[in-house]
Amino acid sequence: MLPSTRSALSQVPRQFRNGGISVRAASAWAQVPQGPPAILGITEAFKADSHPKKINLGVGAYRDDKGKPYVLPSVRSAEKKLVESELDKEYAGITGVPTFTKAAAVLAYGEDSAPIKEDRLVITQSISGTGALRIGGAFLERFYPGSKTIYIPNPSWANHNAVFKDSGLTVEKFRYYNKDTIGLDLEGMVADIKAMPKGSIVMLHACAHNPTGVDPTQQQWAQICDAVKEGGHYPFFDMAYQGFASGDAGKDAFALRHFIKEGLRPCLAQSFAKNMGLYGERVGAFSIVCESVEERKRVDSQLKILVRPLYSNPPVHGARIASAILNDPTLKKQWFGEVKGMADRIIKMRALLKENLEKLGSKHDWSHITSQIGMFAYTGLKPEQMDKLAKEHSVYATKDGRISVAGITSENVQRLAESIHAVTG
Ligand SMILES: Cc1ncc(COP(=O)(O)O)c(C=O)c1O
Repeated sequence: MLPSTRSALSQVPRQFRNGGISVRAASAWAQVPQGPPAILGITEAFKADSHPKKINLGVGAYRDDKGKPYVLPSVRSAEKKLVESELDKEYAGITGVPTFTKAAAVLAYGEDSAPIKEDRLVITQSISGTGALRIGGAFLERFYPGSKTIYIPNPSWANHNAVFKDSGLTVEKFRYYNKDTIGLDLEGMVADIKAMPKGSIVMLHACAHNPTGVDPTQQQWAQICDAVKEGGHYPFFDMAYQGFASGDAGKDAFALRHFIKEGLRPCLAQSFAKNMGLYGERVGAFSIVCESVEERKRVDSQLKILVRPLYSNPPVHGARIASAILNDPTLKKQWFGEVKGMADRIIKMRALLKENLEKLGSKHDWSHITSQIGMFAYTGLKPEQMDKLAKEHSVYATKDGRISVAGITSENVQRLAESIHAVTG
């Protein structure tokens, strides 16, 4: 360094040297408080456990009967086709890969859907289901003419609250689950929907409710729909498990399609994480049913304005995989079979768990294990019992008693039943 530069620098107070950033001054992040541990705590505790037969029922991802992650053969075939076609890696448009979004809409709303046929459905690709919910939350915050409060079921997927709050909405809850029956609190739910201020936003899990696995029957959905309609409310469906619940994608979309038949115009968050096993590819879609083509055009323009500063445009690879499956009748048929295979394995594990508990002489009623649906079962076990399961039996799941049925295998189901029996008496 030149002597003149050194002397000039020595005139400058220390904290303003080094390009204006002080090496000694307090860190810009000194005030950042420590947050609570994330849900991944379960996975860490599971990894640290040396028990040779430890069981992890905390993860929200499908596992095969050997407990291994499963890449669907239809996904492998679609991926192979994509690689062979040597597509470029150019940007997609703001709303994503059009062949994907079109097919995703048909999958959710049905082949004969009036909003699709009448060209009044707005759809954009999203960063999986979470991104779809976030776009929806942000759109409602910006444009919904009524109160910016969204009502979600109690309980709901843990991230709903955070997603909607961070979108600028106020989150309230409505009754959904009855602890005593370990089933649906239909009366409470309908009463709460009726008591909401007119024109409220109501979020509903289209199928395979997470975390309870408790879904309304078709008749109960009709009652819920009537209450939503009567209140002039706005339905927001989250469909993260289409096909995964019953094994039949059409059946799982019943609620959404029923609401539309009844004249309601919902919005929808879709995810292909679970039903195509595309977890890390982040494939999803957000759509809004509009009243007319003219309205669709206005809403579409604003969705683009909203998405552009968030992430410009979504990733293409996963959407191309989903598109290749949904647009090829042979692959689509194969995929339907694979989804059914996953759903059936889960249904079988539910039955085996119940059967094993009964064989052990458990005096409790475990019928909810088989009546619930989808990836999760709400066992009704208390936090102390879940603690015991982890500490004494090396069985890991969330404290609320939710277990991921996808983590149960033919091999570990008996040990799981023995552990549950030991902590429930
Ligand atoms: C009810 C519900 N909605 C949305 C999601 C979003 O999942 P992803 O962002 O992985 O698509 C999940 C994932 O567990 C979920 O359970």
